[in-house]
Amino acid sequence: MEFNRITAAEAAALIENGQTIGLSGFTPAGVPKCTPAEIAKKAEAEHAAGRPFKISVFTGASTGQSCDGALTNAQAIDYRAPYTTNPDFRKHVNNNELRYSDLNLSNMATQIRQGYLGDVDWAIIEACAIEKVGSKAHIYLTAAGGISPTVCRLAKRGIIIELNAFHSPDSKGIHDVYEIEDHPYRKPIMICKASDRIGKPYVEVDADRIVGVIECNVADEARGFKDPDPVTTQIGQNVADFLLSNLRSGLIPKTFLNLQSGVGSGANAVLGALGQCPEVPNFNIYTEVLQDAPVALMKQGRVLSASTCSLTVTNECLQDIYSNIDFFKDKLVLRPSEISNCPEVIARIGVCALNTAIECDLYGHVNSTKICGTKMMNGIGGSADFASSAYLSIFTCGSTTKGGAISSIVPFASHIDHTNHYIDAVITEYGVADLRHKSDMQKAEALIEVAHPDYRPMLRDYLKYASKKGGHTQHELSAAFAMHDTFLRKGDMRLTDLAEYIK
Ligand code: COA
Repeated sequence: MEFNRITAAEAAALIENGQTIGLSGFTPAGVPKCTPAEIAKKAEAEHAAGRPFKISVFTGASTGQSCDGALTNAQAIDYRAPYTTNPDFRKHVNNNELRYSDLNLSNMATQIRQGYLGDVDWAIIEACAIEKVGSKAHIYLTAAGGISPTVCRLAKRGIIIELNAFHSPDSKGIHDVYEIEDHPYRKPIMICKASDRIGKPYVEVDADRIVGVIECNVADEARGFKDPDPVTTQIGQNVADFLLSNLRSGLIPKTFLNLQSGVGSGANAVLGALGQCPEVPNFNIYTEVLQDAPVALMKQGRVLSASTCSLTVTNECLQDIYSNIDFFKDKLVLRPSEISNCPEVIARIGVCALNTAIECDLYGHVNSTKICGTKMMNGIGGSADFASSAYLSIFTCGSTTKGGAISSIVPFASHIDHTNHYIDAVITEYGVADLRHKSDMQKAEALIEVAHPDYRPMLRDYLKYASKKGGHTQHELSAAFAMHDTFLRKGDMRLTDLAEYIK
């Protein structure tokens, strides 16, 4: 080993109160696990000794329990950006105990580079291999690109490497590391198809900036997926039917589109169902998270190539990729989030964006992040990066959740992440609301048809009240959140009495 070997506790000892760490990874995939856990222990010890200890954390997207969970439970985070899925983190954020910025993931590295988020003190990077080549170090990333190239370049105090033997060094070459130039020197990003490579297979830094290398063997903190159920299977079928009808009518090219699929069990099931539909041609993927279902489709030859930021797969799936790396190497490319989610590339290559909504309102505005408008679920992730630049932007959701007590189609979304300008269709298990070429009132009619039958009369009644107020987009504002309010008071939107709210 040509680099200074240290322990995770020694690495954590370097991190001081008020400093900022920039982490590798994107979703729990590729995140360093040993150092953040030791930083949490250090925070607890410092707090017990009566000393302040809080840091800022920059990541590619979400992390796992040993990072977001341990650090928030130790009250060790002052500021964090961007996306997260950790339940403990969610609890602390919703108690307003730390400053959390939910950013579009394509923009995270850019905002660091622009200086909007302040300095990065330390880069902490998980690697499957590190090589010294002259005065340079080549860092081979693991299961995600994230913001690693940017934080490695900008970290003022140095770079800490977690060399994790769980990730096979045979995967060297799977990454395409490319960093966009700063303005005004920015050039076109020359990716014209999902499998194009424009960068290097490693992050290159001056070797003397590597402060220490921690050798470890720790599994990724991957989350499992819920098995497809009748609802997600039907949504998948509806998506497939919609794409096929668009293909037949010439609304999408005969060569098909690159698919992006969102995060979560729903998105995993939709892509799985799509792959099983024999009439859907073999396709390419340009996405930010590759989950288990599309990896299986690659092995079946249904997915020809995939560009992603991370392998957000189960550990069994990840090890299977490593075992069959020769098969995957020319079909799979991992990119930094600034590139995997780059609106310029997404618009150029033609992407069908498939994202999941928490709720959608009658005029097609989508909430992806806030439960009842206030409680953070996860964050916007890359959904806006893709939806806003896609050739075809689809949002899916089950028509209800929590045993039917919540309708996903509501009069007015309690928070809006995606305006209807960026949404072509909303698909539930009850069908497709094709919003293209429709006025707002026509969108409302189409969306009521895909709501759960229990809620359709209520939504129609709402429109009747709203029509008395007139307008291009009709609302009765006093009742616009009646369903949310009833859920919060009585635990079930079905108990809503709209008349109670009309002033
Ligand atoms: N009100 C209250 N809770 C709701 C809800 C609503 N309208 N809609 C969903 N939920 C809850 C579900 O009940 C479920 O709760 P549980 O974990 O207690 O069971 C949880 O949210 C997750 O919903 P689920 O139906 O299992 O879907 P999912 O796993 O596919 O996740 C999102 C859905 C929207 C939370 C997820 O896709 C997300 O975070 N999206 C934003 C980021 C993104 O789109 N990235 C895409 C680019 S990759």
